Amino acid sequence: MMKMDFPIEETVKMRRSVRSYQECPLSPDEKQRIDRYIAGLTNPFSVDISFYLLEGKVSADGEKLGTYGFIKGASDFVGASVARCELGLEALGYSFEQLVLYLTAMGLGTCWLGGTFDRSAFAAAMKLKEGDLFPVISPIGQPLEKKRVFDSMARWVAKSDSRLAWSSLFYCQDFSRPLTPEQAGDYAFALEMLRLAPSASNKQPWRVVQGQGVYHFFEAHSIKDGRHGFDIQRTDLGIGACHFHLAAMERDLPGRFVKLEDPGIQLPEQVDYLFSWIGKETLGTIC
Ligand SMILES: Cc1cc2nc3c(=O)[nH]c(=O)nc-3n(C[C@H](O)[C@H](O)[C@H](O)COP(=O)(O)O)c2cc1C
Repeated sequence: MMKMDFPIEETVKMRRSVRSYQECPLSPDEKQRIDRYIAGLTNPFSVDISFYLLEGKVSADGEKLGTYGFIKGASDFVGASVARCELGLEALGYSFEQLVLYLTAMGLGTCWLGGTFDRSAFAAAMKLKEGDLFPVISPIGQPLEKKRVFDSMARWVAKSDSRLAWSSLFYCQDFSRPLTPEQAGDYAFALEMLRLAPSASNKQPWRVVQGQGVYHFFEAHSIKDGRHGFDIQRTDLGIGACHFHLAAMERDLPGRFVKLEDPGIQLPEQVDYLFSWIGKETLGTIC
């Protein structure tokens, strides 16, 4: 097995959105480790992502870095931005999730926030470049053991503890035939890790079709909020790609992500093609 920065299955299963934190900032040592990890992050879409570690609760111009009460106690945050480009949001989702998993393995709490934060105060603190997309932030800190009633409410509203079944997410050859773990063979693990990934409002917009030697990734649109001029669910697809890729690497399954001209698969309504994983070795049984 390839040596990874953290054990994939254990870390994916340990990660949860943490909305209540102990009121203690990150130590200088923790910050240094996080900075170093961020500096070494790459993504298979070859898009540059900028990360910003924000200390304290107040931005440069004295404005409070607020989360409308969704997050309590955190004094450190991370934000990320990307130029508006092909696969940019997917790349950001990939790298941000890899950081989230690393922080989880360090014992720290995180919570992807794409909606419930004061976007303009954070944007000012990050000194964004004109035109860059700034889809998400996350608090980073020690989780509070005793959670608020609010946290349970937020989990209940998004049905955060459940995930869609394989039969609703993964297909064989085309969208009419569901894929079973047996048919996915060696890739069953990578797909299962993808299935457990977090997504905006827990909508799990990823759909994957297994072909001969390839996995095609699609987005099933279910959030129609175009307020900020981008589609947050493309970030979710990047998160899914991260889980899939890290799991494939851990199991020594080589391959690469590419965007094909046309994967030649008939699309259901509200479903768009995004990218494909081309495996270097024979994949699961042909179904
Ligand atoms: C791109 C993205 C945006 C999110 N935005 C918010 C948000 O604005 N507020 C919030 O409380 N949770 C947000 N979440 C957290 C999701 O609700 C959560 O990941 C999902 O319900 C699954 O729960 P889990 O992360 O505990 O597994 C977001 C998650 C993702 C991936």
